[in-house]
Amino acid sequence: MNYITIALAKGRLAKKAMGMLEEIGITCEEMKEPDSRKLIFTNEKLGLKFFLAKANDVPTYVEYGAADIGIVGKDTILEEGRKMYEVLDLNMGKCRMCVAGPESARELLQNGGLIRVATKYPNIAKDYFYNKRHQTVEIIKLNGSIELAPIVGLSEVIVDIVETGATLRENGLAVLEEICPLSARMVVNQVSMKMEHERITGMINGLREVLLKGR
Ligand code: PRP
Repeated sequence: MNYITIALAKGRLAKKAMGMLEEIGITCEEMKEPDSRKLIFTNEKLGLKFFLAKANDVPTYVEYGAADIGIVGKDTILEEGRKMYEVLDLNMGKCRMCVAGPESARELLQNGGLIRVATKYPNIAKDYFYNKRHQTVEIIKLNGSIELAPIVGLSEVIVDIVETGATLRENGLAVLEEICPLSARMVVNQVSMKMEHERITGMINGLREVLLKGR
């Protein structure tokens, strides 16, 4: 039996995803060791390998076939634009991609002026402003704490993930426009889908049943 390799986006999502996989009998005891510095984990019995990677890198591993399956947020899938199959919405890690800023920026945004948009997601921001809103904006790439940008005057608005809305509220910002809903997705390498069709579709169907039960 060939190994099937699953890449998980590091962090909250990985824990939740492993919990869900356990429900269909896919476990990995090795991965639960808290102090381990190991990067790759194996379940010999099931012929599975798991690894944790930076979310942005998960689509890269899957497109190149270094991982057969990936579990990653829709935000990363949209931003990376990799060639792979998105096969299942895991209905977890739900949040929204939004344009946010101070209330005072609402008018600027609606008037279609040349505003600055700070974001960790330049491709999503470009697509939204250029292709959907047909508005020219200046996009400024940041790597985290995006909410700082309008507060310190780096940009008028931001494009970022909003989950509870607490970060925005606590910093005097608000959602100005919603771009799209987000959640964790299962993605599959295009060749693996053919070569390991039975095992991979078995997994997809198992997870689909878990999702239906949870409704
Ligand atoms: C994300 C996002 C927001 C925050 C939204 O940041 O970029 O800042 O979570 O969550 P909320 O609506 O529940 O407040 P993350 O914690 O991933 O860190 P980052 O700022 O480094 O991107």
